[in-house]
Amino acid sequence: MSNGDTTNAGADGDLSPSGFWEARYAESDRIWSGRVNPVLADLADELTPGTALDLGCGEGGDAVWLAQRGWQVTGIDLSGTAVARGLAAATRLGIDPRQIRLHSADLSTWTTEERFDLVTMFFLQSPVEFPREEVLHRAGTFVAPGGHLLIVAHAAAPPWMGAEHSNHMDFPTPEGDVAAVGGDGWDRLIVEVRPREAVGPQGQSGELLDSVVFLRRH
Ligand SMILES: C[S@@+](CC[C@H](N)C(=O)[O-])C[C@H]1O[C@@H](n2cnc3c(N)ncnc32)[C@H](O)[C@@H]1O
Repeated sequence: MSNGDTTNAGADGDLSPSGFWEARYAESDRIWSGRVNPVLADLADELTPGTALDLGCGEGGDAVWLAQRGWQVTGIDLSGTAVARGLAAATRLGIDPRQIRLHSADLSTWTTEERFDLVTMFFLQSPVEFPREEVLHRAGTFVAPGGHLLIVAHAAAPPWMGAEHSNHMDFPTPEGDVAAVGGDGWDRLIVEVRPREAVGPQGQSGELLDSVVFLRRH
């Protein structure tokens, strides 16, 4: 899962989205914890497994967790390195490859005719170019009737980030994300900001704020 880091620039100065994220993943063998995001674990446990789509799946922590619980998972991420790590984790855990499909693609243009029982988007935020509102709108169209859409985002800078960085950052709000998804065919199950205890890169503990949007399509 994310540790709240949204600011590092690509070491080589390449700020194209793919250059930025590949440089970020090249910094270490593993960037995220590999564990499921706790909000997903809480909410998906209540759902009957079906098909799931994880947008911006990163190193696959959430996709692998869903596959282990019987979901048929598709994950999309811009970074081929991140996708390869997710697939390697699935193989290590003995997950049937038919249960988890992870692809490298740019969500600013990626689309599909498939409709999913659960579409998730965790911390799909980027300091470089990313048409987040458009992607949110498209994410809503990927949800099957009766299916769920779960969007979790950093709602504020982490307390350990200096004001010189955080003052220039924009953060999503739950209502803003609902508006970007659009349409009136949704039940609003959760639309709120939630606090979460976390540990920063230097071991500092602090509270992060997550925007949580959980919708069910009529
Ligand atoms: C903060 S990480 C979150 C990863 C994962 N969802 C998690 O919670 O650990 C954001 C992810 O979005 C991906 N990303 C950024 N821009 C993208 C784009 N245009 N298309 C697809 N993925 C993108 C990055 O490669 C990165 O893996």
